[in-house]
Amino acid sequence: MLKEVTATRYITPLREGGSLPGLVEADDFGTYVLKFSGAGQGRKTLVAEVVCGELARRLGLRVPRLVTVELDAELGLGEPDQEVQSLLRSSGGTNLGMDFLSGALGFDPLAFSVTPEEAGRIVWFDALVNNVDRSWRNPNLLMWRGELWLVDHGATMIWHHNWPGAEASAARPYDASDHALAPFAPDVAAAAAELAPRVTGELLADVTAQIPDAWLTDEPGFDTPDDLRRAYARSLLARAAVIHDRIQGIE
Ligand SMILES: Nc1ncnc2c1ncn2[C@@H]1O[C@H](COP(=O)(O)OP(=O)(O)OP(=O)(O)O)[C@@H](O)[C@H]1O
Ligand SMILES: [Mg+2]
Repeated sequence: MLKEVTATRYITPLREGGSLPGLVEADDFGTYVLKFSGAGQGRKTLVAEVVCGELARRLGLRVPRLVTVELDAELGLGEPDQEVQSLLRSSGGTNLGMDFLSGALGFDPLAFSVTPEEAGRIVWFDALVNNVDRSWRNPNLLMWRGELWLVDHGATMIWHHNWPGAEASAARPYDASDHALAPFAPDVAAAAAELAPRVTGELLADVTAQIPDAWLTDEPGFDTPDDLRRAYARSLLARAAVIHDRIQGIE
């Protein structure tokens, strides 16, 4: 289970971010980036954040710690901004929080360098989860205390929008030509050799167990949250075995 906190104060919207993530303070005195369950992108975005974030972390990649944030919709009552107010009002209940990396800089491929080993691990991981949101235009990579951190895994696993076609979709190739780390000679062969064997059924059961039940109910074709958890695990297990040969667009 992810740690559970309760929001005590809405601080401010983040300047960037299409889904209007916000900064909140919680009852443990932590400051979190909050991704709202009521955002237009829907709760599957939050499921993707948990599955990919917790999987990446278990594979040794750096991802800010994730928590669930209980939000009282009334927290929005005093918000002057209409858009923020309606987001808060529609997000009562369980939301996703992430440790706020204070002072982090957006990754700039011209200002920072990344080793082929690290670039390879990240490109391979993004191929595994089919992340289409790590382009050089919008890398969703942060430099914090001299190290590279991964954020924003909401636009991954396209197959969870159409489970009947998931098996076929999970086998599709990944085009890495636009990837922010494509210029760093990513060694995906080494990454696949190291990481693919670690993506086991057991690891994926642990990862998917972190998804709150509240985001897994009422999915057509699935009777229980655990059935849906197993579908996420199956799709990633199948993809881990084959994706290395299907990464396109890099040397
Ligand atoms: N944990 C964090 N610590 C510090 N800054 C963060 C953190 N998470 C996100 N940010 C900053 O906020 C921006 C928006 O966050 P994020 O990309 O997760 O939101 P989004 O709405 O999914 O964005 P978009 O769809 O526009 O890419 C990031 O690009 C980054 O600059
Ligand atoms: Mg983003």
